[in-house]
Amino acid sequence: MLNRTSASPDKTHLSDKDEAVKQTASLSSVRFFLPYARAYRGKIIGAGLSLIMVSGAMLSMGRGLGYLVDKGLGAGDPAILDKAVLGTCLIAAILAFGSYLRASLVNMVGESIVADIKRALFSHLVHLHTGWFETARVGDLLSRINTDTTVMREVLTSSLSMAIRNAMILIGGLVLLILASPKMSLVVAIVVPCVVAPVIYMARRLREASRIAQDKIGDVSVAAEESLSSMRLIHAFGQEKAQMQQFDRKVDESLVASLRRVHLLGILSGTVIFLVFCGIGIILWIGGQDLMQGKITAGDLSAFIFYSFLIASATGGLAELAGGLQRAAGAADRIAAIFKSETIITEAATPKALPHPDKIAVQLDGVGFSYPARADVPALHDISLSIAPGERIALVGPSGAGKSTLFHLLLRFYDPTTGTIRFNGIDSKELGLATLRNAIGLVPQEPALFSASLFDNIAFGMPDASHEAVRQAAEKAEILPFIENLPDGFNSFVGEKGIRLSGGQKQRIAIARVILRNPHLLLLDEATSALDSVSEAAVQKALTNLMHGRTSLVIAHRLSTIIDADRILLIDEGKLIATGTHDELLTNSPLYRELALHQFG
Ligand SMILES: Nc1ncnc2c1ncn2[C@@H]1O[C@H](COP(=O)(O)OP(=O)(O)O)[C@@H](O)[C@H]1O
Ligand SMILES: [Mg+2]
Repeated sequence: MLNRTSASPDKTHLSDKDEAVKQTASLSSVRFFLPYARAYRGKIIGAGLSLIMVSGAMLSMGRGLGYLVDKGLGAGDPAILDKAVLGTCLIAAILAFGSYLRASLVNMVGESIVADIKRALFSHLVHLHTGWFETARVGDLLSRINTDTTVMREVLTSSLSMAIRNAMILIGGLVLLILASPKMSLVVAIVVPCVVAPVIYMARRLREASRIAQDKIGDVSVAAEESLSSMRLIHAFGQEKAQMQQFDRKVDESLVASLRRVHLLGILSGTVIFLVFCGIGIILWIGGQDLMQGKITAGDLSAFIFYSFLIASATGGLAELAGGLQRAAGAADRIAAIFKSETIITEAATPKALPHPDKIAVQLDGVGFSYPARADVPALHDISLSIAPGERIALVGPSGAGKSTLFHLLLRFYDPTTGTIRFNGIDSKELGLATLRNAIGLVPQEPALFSASLFDNIAFGMPDASHEAVRQAAEKAEILPFIENLPDGFNSFVGEKGIRLSGGQKQRIAIARVILRNPHLLLLDEATSALDSVSEAAVQKALTNLMHGRTSLVIAHRLSTIIDADRILLIDEGKLIATGTHDELLTNSPLYRELALHQFG
């Protein structure tokens, strides 16, 4: 997408502690917006022209004032006074129209750019590899999508155009000032750097404070998200007060950081105003002397004072905007950091098709894997095995043995550190990701449901599925009677994360989802508890329906599943330590005997 320069697997720079990132920030944040701005070139040019119109109108008011004082009031000519008033009305009309154009064009562009950034950001996020989300915090990501884009929108819509207008007025005013009295250029040349230098210094500190404040806001939303989504746990353990205190602390930290930012902003504005008015005082003092010596007229001095005030307010406004721009740049940096993370699960340039997709054989050769977060401890070690099409495999082993990890590798959430995984003879890295994942049906141990209707939850992997197809899938998953007994049937909402359903019901929804997709390789992570014996029998029946004629790997905890399997793989500490039937393993493997005794009863 954008700024894809360096791959940084499993490292997100969400909080941006990098020095390098910080130093190039101003430059890179401009670069960040350019591709988005390009689409609105015409409107941006229009906005620029309206800004010129507005600043031109404001600047010409000063000239008009000088004319009025010298020729109208000074010479006592009422006709000139009439003209001056008409002229003022005309300028006001131009000013009003220019302001209208500026506001509408700038807002349109700002809002559109921010919407585009949001879309691009989300699209980038969903395409990142699965493992990336282990190191990222959801609250942080939400804050990127919401808070940071809001900051950008505010700055892009109002602050930025005011900044440009102020800058134009500043420059135009200074030019007119210098033209009126060349002597002043020297004074101005000394005054301006004295004002600008401290502003730049302080704006830098302000930027750092803004970054910290934004990070703290992220922490608050992470804390809120985690607590709010675990309310049952919090209530069950009576942790309301502790959670509250923890949240209070986060809010306090965030408040302190925000107050520091606001404090710096205040100091910055105050300093700027002080410096600017001192500068103008000096300029006025010199101008006044010239008037007394008759070198300039009263009209010149009026225009002079007008421009001085214009320049003073423009500079003051610019200083305030410096803070806003810094915040937007900070937001842009954080978003750009996400765009810099790239997926490490890449597709071959010309992905191969899967031969015989309805009969899937799986072959692992010397597969080893360590999670990036624990590179020193291999989660899987030198696993070799072949699974024939239609074969039913039970994976058995103590908790933490690496069973789920094997599923992660088959689904290509991660690539193996060593060895290869082949489907029907083709290395999984050479298959298209969509091809691979379409061939696989996953029923996870804890099914994930969306806060949508039952219909939408079952049709999750097949959004175009017909009502009849979804109904049949529900029937095969043994969940149809339950759904049909609900007042709203398939349109019933399941609550957030399916909170209104029991464990067994969620499991069967997850099974229906897979049946609907009709994959030919099944990965089932059997639920350990969550189910009473009635649900268990229903889920069991649903699974048996599902596995019929398909290659399947089941992480098995129940004796019935294990006995039904064609072959059992015993995994311990990431190694495949034995394979065979239930009876073979009972006689050959002491670990299996122990598991059989204590785990599957
Ligand atoms: N995302 C992860 N990062 C680091 N280590 C992990 C991660 N997921 C699992 N592990 C570790 O890998 C090992 C195998 O885990 P897993 O495959 O989930 O075991 P199980 O056989 O119970 O399904 C465990 O030691 C676990 O702590
Ligand atoms: Mg597991």
